[in-house]
Amino acid sequence: MEIGVGVMSKVCIIHGPNLNLLGSREPSLYGEITLEELNRQLTDYGKRLGLEVETFQSNYEGAIVEKIQQAVGCDCLIINAAAYTHTSIAIRDALLAVKVPAVEVHISNIYRREDFRQRSLLADVVQGQIVGFGVYGYRLALDAAIHLLQGGTTIVQTG
Ligand code: DQA
Repeated sequence: MEIGVGVMSKVCIIHGPNLNLLGSREPSLYGEITLEELNRQLTDYGKRLGLEVETFQSNYEGAIVEKIQQAVGCDCLIINAAAYTHTSIAIRDALLAVKVPAVEVHISNIYRREDFRQRSLLADVVQGQIVGFGVYGYRLALDAAIHLLQGGTTIVQTG
């Protein structure tokens, strides 16, 4: 399925700090899959949905800001800003600046964890959040990207 006429839509997935350690980092919380394997699976899943998927990981706030600034070529962003979710006005401002629709993902359910994780500085500038479904949440985010790219709203229609 292609969203545009003969043009593959591009989804850019941004992973924040410490997500390069997926697989070995607190596996009971974040799972046992490595980031490399996860990215491979997401690229394959995206292909099946007719999406080109680009992945990026950085432990540096500024590098993530720059990646978002360059995301003008992306039709949709999927971002797990990890710990920066809770602290980074710079990442929030970058998302506001590029006006690319974004889906926020967290592997764990941040609302069932420490108080400091229960606040996201990104929550009100993204289209929606997917939290607590483990790494499966990224697939859900790709499904959400398709929905957004097809012109779906985040407002539930009644009736
Ligand atoms: C996380 C949750 C954050 O609080 C934490 O700092 C992370 C991962 C998640 O995916 O559950 O690094 O974003």
